[in-house]
Amino acid sequence: MSKQHLPVLAKHATPFYLYDLGLLRTTLDQAKTEAQQYGYHVHYALKANANAPILAEILERGFGADCVSGNEVKRALEAGFTPENIVFAGVGKSDAEINLALQSGIFCFNCESVQELEVIQELAAAQGKTAQVALRINPNVDAYTHKYITTGLEENKFGINTWELENLLPNFSHWPNIKLIGLHFHIGSQITDLRAFENLCGRVNELQDWFEARGYTFPHLNVGGGLGVNYQQPEEHPIADFKEYFGIFNRLLTKRPGQQVHFELGRALVAQCGSLISKVLYLKHGQKTNFVILDAGMTELMRPALYQAYHKIENLTSNLPAKTYDVVGPICESSDCFAKGIELPETHRGDLVAIKTAGAYGEVMASAYNLRDRVQAVYVD
Ligand code: LLP
Repeated sequence: MSKQHLPVLAKHATPFYLYDLGLLRTTLDQAKTEAQQYGYHVHYALKANANAPILAEILERGFGADCVSGNEVKRALEAGFTPENIVFAGVGKSDAEINLALQSGIFCFNCESVQELEVIQELAAAQGKTAQVALRINPNVDAYTHKYITTGLEENKFGINTWELENLLPNFSHWPNIKLIGLHFHIGSQITDLRAFENLCGRVNELQDWFEARGYTFPHLNVGGGLGVNYQQPEEHPIADFKEYFGIFNRLLTKRPGQQVHFELGRALVAQCGSLISKVLYLKHGQKTNFVILDAGMTELMRPALYQAYHKIENLTSNLPAKTYDVVGPICESSDCFAKGIELPETHRGDLVAIKTAGAYGEVMASAYNLRDRVQAVYVD
């Protein structure tokens, strides 16, 4: 968000999320064009941002929905996604969530454990339904990203480990209410070293061969999401490299005849279109540093506190020469800090700042800690 929007921004009470729907549309169009040329299907990961105006743009482009809770399935249906375009993942699906998904007739459960498969069989039988299922396999591929958002290593809780597969397969003949239609993988998030996806393709090929040798072929292959965005230079790189990303899978993934390949992108579609706009409440001169105290905190944007994540911060009001600041929030936690030792134009009480690249895993992860008000959203074109 730039200074030109200042008069519009000044009308709204801070803090609020500001979404640039124009940038969202351009991003979605590029992703769609690059995916379409290979016949790839994209399921948007609702967990990144589930706001109705954003979902409407995503739906309009024909993407499906990737959900990880019953409420996300409900939200996707309310937004207009058809059940046939909804997939449901998660290591801890409750009985109520499974029942809801069965009743809704979603396309596919991405199953993460043997016990979950047993429960789905039982609940599907009780409803007289057949559940379409993909096995989420833990491929043991390093995503070279932050350890909290790595999901595809054997030390992680996600997916079925490969050594369990041999014993698992015979069970499917005793599970009449489960139809095994595919394999699912997701190795992590904010992946910027794209060799991780090359390695994933190699692993998926090996696993498909393994299944084929045992008489299993699948119409459906889901390789997850994870494509990273540029938090350092959002203005210079507002759109992720979808061309390179989908190109890797086209080059390296051995698709079986008629097999549909699905992706589950979240961050790369929505991160750059959102900024958290906040007002400077106070300046405080500490012993070693100058603090800028904002009216937004970790309750509105948790990523810096949780993952030590970097978000670029811009002072939208001041054009004065730069000074060095720690930018912090009002919450009673020392981890409530957005940035340490950064340069900003000399900053004063009342200045507006934008915390960039906050469209993904920002508003959805907001909390009510300290009994904070729910953060608002504003949309511009
Ligand atoms: N599919 C599955 C099964 C996932 O677990 C995730 C993200 C995605 C797709 C979408 O991944 P993406 O394309 O957005 O990277 N809160 C963290 C990110 C957690 C990601 C969780 N899973 C953050 O703020 O960085």
